[in-house]
Amino acid sequence: MATARLTLDPRRTIGTVNRRMFGSFVEHLGRCVYDGIYEPGHPLADSAGFRNDVKELVKELGVSAIRYPGGNFVSGFKWEDSVGPVEQRPKRLDLAWHSTETNQVGLHEFAGWLEEIGSELMLAVNLGTRGTEEALDLLEYCNLPFGTALAEKRAANGHDKAFNIKMWCLGNEMDGPWQIGHRSAHDYGKIASQTAKAMRQLDPSIELVACGSSSADMPTFGEWERVVLGHTYDDVDFISCHAYYEIKDGDLGSFLASAANMDRFIDSVTATADHIKAVKGSNKTLNISFDEWNVWYNERFETVDKITGIDNWPIAPRLLEDSYTVADAVVVGNLLISLLNHADRVTSASLAQLVNVIAPIMTEPGGLAWRQTTFFPFALTSHNANGTALDTGLESEKYDTAAHGTVRIVDAAATHNPDDGSASVFLVNRSSDQVSTVTIDTSHLRDVQILSALTLTDTDVFAANTLADPHRVQLRDLEGTEQHPGTITLTLPPVSWTALFLASTPEKA
Ligand code: AHR
Repeated sequence: MATARLTLDPRRTIGTVNRRMFGSFVEHLGRCVYDGIYEPGHPLADSAGFRNDVKELVKELGVSAIRYPGGNFVSGFKWEDSVGPVEQRPKRLDLAWHSTETNQVGLHEFAGWLEEIGSELMLAVNLGTRGTEEALDLLEYCNLPFGTALAEKRAANGHDKAFNIKMWCLGNEMDGPWQIGHRSAHDYGKIASQTAKAMRQLDPSIELVACGSSSADMPTFGEWERVVLGHTYDDVDFISCHAYYEIKDGDLGSFLASAANMDRFIDSVTATADHIKAVKGSNKTLNISFDEWNVWYNERFETVDKITGIDNWPIAPRLLEDSYTVADAVVVGNLLISLLNHADRVTSASLAQLVNVIAPIMTEPGGLAWRQTTFFPFALTSHNANGTALDTGLESEKYDTAAHGTVRIVDAAATHNPDDGSASVFLVNRSSDQVSTVTIDTSHLRDVQILSALTLTDTDVFAANTLADPHRVQLRDLEGTEQHPGTITLTLPPVSWTALFLASTPEKA
């Protein structure tokens, strides 16, 4: 048995939890949009063709901002193709995913869908095959209230009011050699700075994200951020981070410690941004938009799924449809813990992606929509991580991993809501064979009572929810929870993610 201790003290804050931390990502890729959120022939589709059952699941998931329309897709995208009468929209090749884009769903349809979901739209501009002029056109089309050809075109296309989109990504993964229009850090930094300045001239209220590294394993990682921020520091509000994790060579211990890599990634990017701040003598502090993160079995995509051939450009093919296990959900829950523990600097993040494509929600054409294992930690964290993230002073026994060095067996994050005195604690036990006992010091909180303690675990860590068995993996009550004055003790099963919810007891009269 391993042990760990942590303290809930509302005076020891990391930062306010920004709702944008619980964002997601919808890319025109595979069946994320078509046969995912949108399937006109489905019995549960609304009059616009969007599936109502999927909408309900997305609301239950609790996603804040949604990044759109890519991803690699955006680097070859002409936004003009996706607006205007649907029957006149052109079919185009999507070179990134070797597919055909029909443009049946575009800016207006997606913005309408988001309004129903109650999520914010975060748009990416194409800095791969296009540049400043096209980014300005799109911004004018979206945000100018009236008075120009593009604002009038938007109104004629059915949206009189400006979309008023606040967050804009200046391209996608421009450090990646796979990216259409891939650039060196200097070349990208220059065009990003020029585009950002021009976009702000048009709409000073927007928030801009410069592309950081596609992963901390990129050979240019660190230097890319230094050079890009050297060009763009004064022009942007965020630098992005992207990270995907998968089990390699069957090494479960390393995989379960993936969040240690995310912790170091965030710390390194923060340090680089603060270095540029010092060099420039700037008063501005740059935040991180962790706008792609998840478990992704990328190796399977590269070796099995990848589409090729000049005569083979399918519409909405099954791509990146990973089926997630209990172990994957524990890692996803742990990645959220990492984000919460960096709430002072990570003020926006996007789980990549939302439906069918490396997603918490899966759908079958004409059939069911269901929750993957990763749905549960995301939904519970999003709905219950309110107020401020606390520095818990976590102490835990450790273990050695091949990929991430020596790491804690238990990892945890906690939030406290000063409005009602409630608190939430999110924990993982990374041990593959031992339970962990965690002692939580609650003596600094007003009298608290345990509302619930829910855990995701299974004797089969590779169990998954599938079309044939969509409810195989569920949350369950954590057994063996004890509360004593000033202390709560939890017993975490091996390979588990747990959420503990505490309410403040009303003061006695
Ligand atoms: O989310 C899948 C892909 O991963 C995105 O298109 C790209 O930005 C990243 O490499």
